[in-house]
Parts: sequence; structure tokens; C-alpha cells
Amino acid sequence: MTQRKVRVAVNGYGVIGKRIADAVALQDDMELAGIADIVSDWRVKVAAIKGYAIFASASSASHEMQSAGIPVAGVLDDLLSRVDVVADATPKKVASLNLEKYRAFKVKSIFQGGEKHSLTGHSFVAQANYASAIGRETTRVVSCNTTSIVRTLGALQSAGLLKKARGVLIRRATDPWESDHSGVMNTVVPEHSIPSHQGPDAQTVLPELDVMTVAVVAAHTNCHLHSWCVELTRPASREEVLQAFGRAPRIAFLRMSEGIVGLNSTLEMMSDLERSRGDMWEVGLWEDGVTVKGNEAFYNYQVYNQAIVVPETIDAIRALTGLETDGAASIQKTDRSLGLVRDFTAA
Ligand SMILES: NC(=O)c1ccc[n+]([C@@H]2O[C@H](COP(=O)([O-])OP(=O)(O)OC[C@H]3O[C@@H](n4cnc5c(N)ncnc54)[C@H](O)[C@@H]3O)[C@@H](O)[C@H]2O)c1
Repeated sequence: MTQRKVRVAVNGYGVIGKRIADAVALQDDMELAGIADIVSDWRVKVAAIKGYAIFASASSASHEMQSAGIPVAGVLDDLLSRVDVVADATPKKVASLNLEKYRAFKVKSIFQGGEKHSLTGHSFVAQANYASAIGRETTRVVSCNTTSIVRTLGALQSAGLLKKARGVLIRRATDPWESDHSGVMNTVVPEHSIPSHQGPDAQTVLPELDVMTVAVVAAHTNCHLHSWCVELTRPASREEVLQAFGRAPRIAFLRMSEGIVGLNSTLEMMSDLERSRGDMWEVGLWEDGVTVKGNEAFYNYQVYNQAIVVPETIDAIRALTGLETDGAASIQKTDRSLGLVRDFTAA
């Protein structure tokens, strides 16, 4: 007997929401029932061009959307009444106000990293804790930086190599489409608090991590760069550390020796690979920069902030709805549908 497709709504069609919607539409076990937003400009018009059903998240927005020529199929309540699960990608703090509504409609919900762990009581990174999300009412896919930390430190932890980790995060100033009105320029701004929130946030998924993060904001608009110093449980070889990263999902190697020398090189390469929007869903880790001295490892990696949480959200849909109970199988299915790789320069 073929299983019915899980019906998914995406509320908030911005940087993250539009990518989730496209990824849902690619899955053969899911159906994108529609997207919802409150704006009536080019952002939502693109969704109409793609043929997605569009709903107004607030009834007050519906009239304006219709006046702008957007074919509005109804309001958020209409969309919620016909789905199993909603991926909420509305802005930080807006999203938390929606949980009660989702509950009232008995719709499972997935939030993003702008929300607090306490909203859902569960924070999600597929390779680390898929099993504990199965059948839950709600979860939170952690932020882009936190996802990368859990993937990489989780890989070292699973290999029995991780004692403690200290990382510096050089963050992008703002997303490209918002750079006309936000973001720092011509400066680098240290974050006031140490640890920055990403280290403690990673502990909401892997509570035993001994991790500290220091973050600075720099004057570019795309991707974060992480530099890590890790104390290992014992002296290890460089090969052992590389094998640990190589075994974990969603970490792909980059090489300076092959001309991938900065965040910009990778962006160009993703476009040349004709990935959707030039996205990189993997943590891009510089293989030839990985250095191990005795029981210490040092490495750099790139986080494509606009895309890294998208495959995680697809897996969270499968976990919450019980569509797939084997996390590794879900990861594999998602990665195949999007086209993730393990090594960017392997021929
Ligand atoms: N941008 C990133 O790089 C990034 C990375 C990882 C996680 N996140 C997280 O993802 C979430 C969404 O962030 P984003 O960058 O996509 O934001 P965004 O501003 O690009 O998109 C938010 C969308 O929600 C819409 N919206 C606003 N109020 C709404 C409402 N009441 N109902 C429905 N829609 C509404 C906006 O019009 C917009 O289209 C946040 O939790 C953020 O922290 C963002």
C-alpha cells in the first residue's frame, strides 16, 4: 500500500521559507499545500509564478495581496485546515506567537533558529537527534551556525575524539537581499557576550559538548566562516580527524590547493554547479587546512547561512510526522533529492 504524502504548509516565504518550500516540492513523500506570508511584493509574486498556492497569514494582508494581483487562495487558517505539518519561517519572535494557533488546528510545527529552545522543548539537527523528534508535536531547527557546530563537533564526538572545542565565528553582516538597509560596513564588530549564543545553543542538541564560541560580525553579506581549536581525547593523526568528518553527513571537503581560497570562491562554484540559488547545504570544510598537533586539532569551515538549515527542516518534517523512523534513511533521501555531495572537488 502506498503511504499518503504528508501535506506541508510554509508560513513566512522569506530567505529560509522560500528554500524550504522548494525543497518540500522536490520530495516524493511530501506535498506542498501552500505558502503563507503578509507581503504583496515581488517576493510572493515569485511564489505565484512558481505555481504555489498562496495564503495570507493575516486577514488584514489578504486585501492588499489581492489588489497587487496575487491569486490568494485563502487565509492561514484555511491552509492549516488542510495540512499535517507547518514549517514556520516567519521572523524571530513573530513565529513564537503562532504555536498556539498550530496547536488549535492540531498541526505539527517546525520553527527556526530565531526562536528559543524553550518554545518547543526540542531542538533538532538530523544527524544528532532525529530519533528523539519522532512523533513530537513541535521542534526547532537550530540556527545556521549552531547546525554547523553540531554537525562538525558531533562528528568528532561520535568518533570518540572530542574533549573540548573553542571556536571563533566571523559572521556575515546581513542577508544579500537586505543589504540596501541593514548590515555593518567598513568595520568588524565583536559581539558583546562571550560565549556567543551559538555554543550554548549547540548544547540544546548535544548537552555534553564542552564548547565555547566567540563571534564577530564582518562587513560581507554571504556566509559565515568558523575557525576552531579542538582538544582531542587523545593524540590522533590528521587522517583520523579527516575520517571522522568524512563519515558524518552534510560535511563536504573544500581545498585551497584547488583554488577554493575564500567564501567567494565557494559561492562562484555553487553557481557554476547550477545549484538552486547557488546554495550550499553542506558545511564546507577546508580539508587541506586541517592541522593536528598531538591532541589538538585546528580547522576552518564555511557556513552558507541561507541554505544549511533547509535539509534539516525536511528531515524534521519526516521525524515529526513519523513518515520515516530511520534518521539515516531520511538524511539520505533528502540529500539525494537536493544533490548534496561529500567532497566538492572530487572528480
Ligand atoms: N537568514 C538566514 O541566514 C537564516 C539562517 C538560519 C535560520 N534563520 C532563521 O529563520 C527564520 C526566518 O528568517 P529569514 O531570514 O527567512 O527571515 P526573512 O525576513 O527573510 O523572511 C521572513 C518572512 O516572513 C514574513 N512574515 C513577517 N511577518 C509575518 C507573519 N506575521 N506571518 C507570516 N509571514 C510573516 C516576511 O514577509 C518574510 O517574507 C528566523 O527564525 C531566522 O532566525 C535565518
